[in-house]
Amino acid sequence: MKSLLLPFLFLCFSVQLVFSQEKKIFNETSQQKSARLKWWTDARFGMFIHWGLYSLPARHEWVKNHERITNEQYQKYFDQFNPDEFDPKKWAKAAKAAGMKYAVLTSKHHEGFCLFDSKYTDYKATKTKAHRDLVKEFVEAFRAEGIHVGFYYSLLDWHHPDYTVDDAHPQRAAENLNEAEKEAYYSRINKGRDMAKYRQYMKNQVTELLTNYGKIDILWLDWTWDKGSKYGKHPQDWGAVDLIKLVRKLQPGIIVNNRLGLDQDGYSDGGDFVTPEQVKPAELIPFKGKYWETCQTFSGSWGYYRDENSWKNQHELLDLLVTSTANGGNLILNVGPTARGEFDYRATRALDSLGLWMHENNISIYHATYPPDIYNLPESMNERVTYNAQTKKLYIHLFNYPEDGQLILPNYQGKISYAQFLHDDSEIPFKVADNGKDLILTLPKTQPPYVVPVIELNTVNQ
Ligand code: GLC
Repeated sequence: MKSLLLPFLFLCFSVQLVFSQEKKIFNETSQQKSARLKWWTDARFGMFIHWGLYSLPARHEWVKNHERITNEQYQKYFDQFNPDEFDPKKWAKAAKAAGMKYAVLTSKHHEGFCLFDSKYTDYKATKTKAHRDLVKEFVEAFRAEGIHVGFYYSLLDWHHPDYTVDDAHPQRAAENLNEAEKEAYYSRINKGRDMAKYRQYMKNQVTELLTNYGKIDILWLDWTWDKGSKYGKHPQDWGAVDLIKLVRKLQPGIIVNNRLGLDQDGYSDGGDFVTPEQVKPAELIPFKGKYWETCQTFSGSWGYYRDENSWKNQHELLDLLVTSTANGGNLILNVGPTARGEFDYRATRALDSLGLWMHENNISIYHATYPPDIYNLPESMNERVTYNAQTKKLYIHLFNYPEDGQLILPNYQGKISYAQFLHDDSEIPFKVADNGKDLILTLPKTQPPYVVPVIELNTVNQ
């Protein structure tokens, strides 16, 4: 019996090895990857910019889809587009003041309109009253402020004649059709449309974007349907493997998001980071050791939406930023400039409020991540802890400022040597609690003038 057991175990182990072998496109070790992503994981905080013709209707960047608008009907926005206030230097200054270290601009969104001067289409900014390559100016302005630059590029295209109509297209099948009718509709409407030509168009445009504007730090490709979806598009539709190879060939250091959908085909390196979109802070967890960035809007839409009023307040925005850092992820916060090319007053107000906090507290965000387990605080305290592995300092973010000024850190005895507020380096005295295990910090009764004050702790391991 025993003599059979060993070969049997060996067989099981080999079978498991074969099945668990992940598919890879590139030859990069995890150390090499972490070095490539280092500036980005250190940065933690970026700006997303959704800008396109949809800023004119000013009722969501999906307006063409939502209202089933045809190319002909949508043309009026192209004709009208005239961003006379566009000055990306102002955008870059606002991003920098808010503490954002990188920015990603929609070079083309789903509507198909290109902000850049592409050779492969006339549906672009240079052919509008803008007469300018808006992407070029964006890149120059942000780089001049020391901000890393990235492009969002939509895989979907609701304007291109060869892009087949799918269930997210403005001309999608009516909801009330049955399966057979839907199939008939899609095969009829897609006659003559040729995705091979569209794939070539994408390759050409991605090549332009990654060769004509110098070093590009991030590419944000958007998006791919779930695996089972019948009338959606999948990695093969984009020629995804070829596309990602092209991207990395043209810009070896670039960081690419995961929305080509290559993980569906079993590839572990078809994208560098996962992209939890518009999730609540409670859902921001360490994502099984993957690199991640949550993308969030200030309000409910990415493109400028004049009448949308659900704007997040400073507390909510800081919750997203701090909770992301405290779980080892990034936050990219979106601004949707107006059709004239400006950040509207609500976006400006929100950015200013973040700048105010970041100016004094950014040390708890940049280069920071989740702390080693021994420093975890009980969830019931509802404070977030970040940690700088280099300086070995801890940062406690006080989302609930203790009314009596007494902050108890359970099981912290022997772990820290000094405590102070981060915003002004003022000492916070502490003593050991009667149980001999906890530390009691004495804070001022009046909360310092920050929505979320931060305590900096020197650990004894420093
Ligand atoms: C979604 C939307 C899109 C937005 C993006 C940002 O995929 O389709 O409008 O640009 O999310 O994450």
